Amino acid sequence: MATLVVVGTQWGDEGKGKIVHLLAEKSNYIVRYQGGNNAGHTVIFDNKEFILHLVPSGILEPNKKCIIGNGVVVDPVELIQEIEFLEQKDININGRLFISDACHIILPYHKFIDVWIEQKSTKKNKIGTTKKGIGPAYADKVERVGIRMADYMNDDIFFELLDRNLAEKKVILENFKNIDKIREEVLKDREKVIKRLTCFVCNTSFLLNQVIREKQNVIFESAQGTMLDVDFGTYPFVTSSNPLSGGCCIGTGVAPNKIDSILGVVKAYTTRVGEGPFPTELFDEYGKHLSQKGQEFGATTGRPRRCGWFDAVVVRYSIMVNGVNVLALTKLDVLDGLEEVKICTGYKYKDKILDQMPSSRAIFEKLEPIYIKMTGWNESTKVKFYDELNDNAKAYLKKLEELVECKIALISMGRSREETIICDEKILDFSFGKEAK
Ligand code: GDP
Ligand code: IMO
Ligand code: MG
Repeated sequence: MATLVVVGTQWGDEGKGKIVHLLAEKSNYIVRYQGGNNAGHTVIFDNKEFILHLVPSGILEPNKKCIIGNGVVVDPVELIQEIEFLEQKDININGRLFISDACHIILPYHKFIDVWIEQKSTKKNKIGTTKKGIGPAYADKVERVGIRMADYMNDDIFFELLDRNLAEKKVILENFKNIDKIREEVLKDREKVIKRLTCFVCNTSFLLNQVIREKQNVIFESAQGTMLDVDFGTYPFVTSSNPLSGGCCIGTGVAPNKIDSILGVVKAYTTRVGEGPFPTELFDEYGKHLSQKGQEFGATTGRPRRCGWFDAVVVRYSIMVNGVNVLALTKLDVLDGLEEVKICTGYKYKDKILDQMPSSRAIFEKLEPIYIKMTGWNESTKVKFYDELNDNAKAYLKKLEELVECKIALISMGRSREETIICDEKILDFSFGKEAK
């Protein structure tokens, strides 16, 4: 039995969906612990593309059970749409999905407020959110006026909280619509939602602790990435939750001493969607290559993702703050055909050389990356075994391991599950982190 946290080590979209789906075969439960439907996790399964936003990627693996933990913010209408989409594709959800009664609900007014905050921000301060209402829903949670799943389903509590929230937010909301219209919008779907979701809702922390006592395998699937963490990312250009491995305990009610292993998912280069500092961003032909070959478009919003070279400072930091034991490296194939590849090993700031992540926004925005250059390769990395990789690709991988001080246990070089090299079989046994303790 073991528990494994799968985290994104960059700015999200590292390929967590593919990796979680691949490992789900070895797990009993797959659990989301933060974020909401701002996430877009792509899984290629049966030659079809599935993009999951709220439901854990393990749902596509037959007979596996999935949990949406208390730390997730749930837009119930969008969740139902996702469930219906899965059912249309003959994925049976019944008895396999559990939703925490303590997760906070996203209502239409959260999405208006999300848009309003972005609209009123100056260009320099815009975050480029997904407009899914994530920040405002988490803000309500912390302000202690949020509506949790259990509250949403209780008439007395719900109406009191709803009217209090609408009254307090009226001035902002009336920039969009008359407050009565917004109230109608909130109520429009409530009956249907309650009818459809009640069978899935329970206290998931009791369930999960029971499962762990029974020594079943559990994967915790992070959304977003370390650099979007509200505490450890490039604040304020972050999301409003803690994608970090530590967030998993708060977002599920599983204690830290029950977590065995931590797997970091890392792209062979870097991408970011939305605004905010990105020291290794490319605006040249190399950037175009990464964007086109990597099909770098947001899985949730369809926006083009910004692309850049691998940033070893970011990933080294991410490994530290998450306690990553081993890495799963994705999208190596996207680098095929490049004459040279660069890796950022530090930053220049004024006359100083930094090899650590600065926290200050003023500094972060002015960093100049320091690169090492490596020879690229023309050969395809779509091979079955590590030994079949060309020498330059191997040298690149070795250099990454050396710079970030962590082993790569899995290499992905294509979208499908089959396009994967397992470098260390231990990754398939989620207890690999126990040795490191
Ligand atoms: P997530 O949010 O971390 O789950 O990642 P996304 O699904 O948003 O974005 C990753 C994209 O890269 C998806 O379209 C995946 O199908 C694709 N992908 C994953 N691994 C690989 C890989 O090794 N090579 C290529 N070419 N595409 C990959
Ligand atoms: P997955 O799980 C990449 C980004 C948004 C924006 C910032 C804040 O697919 O890796 P929000 O709507 O969360 O308030 O937006 O965070 N963002 C993501 N970027 N992948 C994601 O999820 C993201 N979820 C949010 O683009 O910059
Ligand atoms: Mg994504």
